[in-house]
Amino acid sequence: MDKKIIDIKKVTRIYKMGNIKVNALRGIDLKIARGEFVAIMGPSGSGKSTLMNILGCLDIPTTGSYFLEGVDISKLKDNQLAEIRNKKVGFVFQTFNLLSRSNIMGNVELPLIYTKDRIANRKKRNLEAIESVGLTDWIKHRPNELSGGQKQRVAIARALVNNPSIILADEPTGNLDSRTGEEIMAIFQALNREGKTILFVTHELDLAKHAQRIIYLKDGAINGEETISNPVDAKEMLKNMPKLEDKFNSMEEVDLK
Ligand SMILES: Nc1ncnc2c1ncn2[C@@H]1O[C@H](COP(=O)(O)OP(=O)(O)OP(=O)(O)O)[C@@H](O)[C@H]1O
Ligand SMILES: [Mg+2]
Repeated sequence: MDKKIIDIKKVTRIYKMGNIKVNALRGIDLKIARGEFVAIMGPSGSGKSTLMNILGCLDIPTTGSYFLEGVDISKLKDNQLAEIRNKKVGFVFQTFNLLSRSNIMGNVELPLIYTKDRIANRKKRNLEAIESVGLTDWIKHRPNELSGGQKQRVAIARALVNNPSIILADEPTGNLDSRTGEEIMAIFQALNREGKTILFVTHELDLAKHAQRIIYLKDGAINGEETISNPVDAKEMLKNMPKLEDKFNSMEEVDLK
């Protein structure tokens, strides 16, 4: 099998708004190996989300080539692109993007709609994905009954349910407190140890250092990269971070005095 799961060359993305052209990506070359864990950083507007959307087949480059597991994405028709997006890519967003009227199972089930799998099998995959993010006790709950971290774990289960080759997460911890963000990193690191290729965008260097490699974007181009020889271990970090319940306990103590 091909060693590079992602191989893009000279990718540009120009947004046209009336007479104005925005050069969001100006010729990106990027290779990602199977099983890599990569962080993407860069100032606001540098093209991070544009790049993630292209890598996730939510959008296509204006020019340049994109091979995903050896398949030339630029040659695909819309329906083929939709199929690749559904099967090969799991996407996680900053704002979770959950269906508020559906419970956890209903949300995680969504990408399975297009599979030809038997219902019993779909249910099994659904429950496995929920278990892998530790939410088995919550399956009947709706998003408004969950904390931000739990919502993001539902979104990760949804991204996992089709067993994609790659997980793409655009600022997955952007709306979370630091302990919860660390918990999300711990899930990603566990998934990566099991062999999943993961790319995530973050504005925080402390979080980016959980990855094996950091890619820096600036003005729509790659502005450098860094190999992290000793990535931060989220599980270790969590041992020294106060739990939310501890905070409440100490507040109670203050109130009692
Ligand atoms: N749909 C769009 N139409 C027009 N311009 C766009 C569109 N999406 C993004 N842009 C522009 O492309 C550039 C790159 O935007 P992008 O969203 O990729 O940046 P980003 O690095 O993800 O920023 P942030 O950190 O704020 O999320 C910006 O100048 C932005 O205004
Ligand atoms: Mg963005």
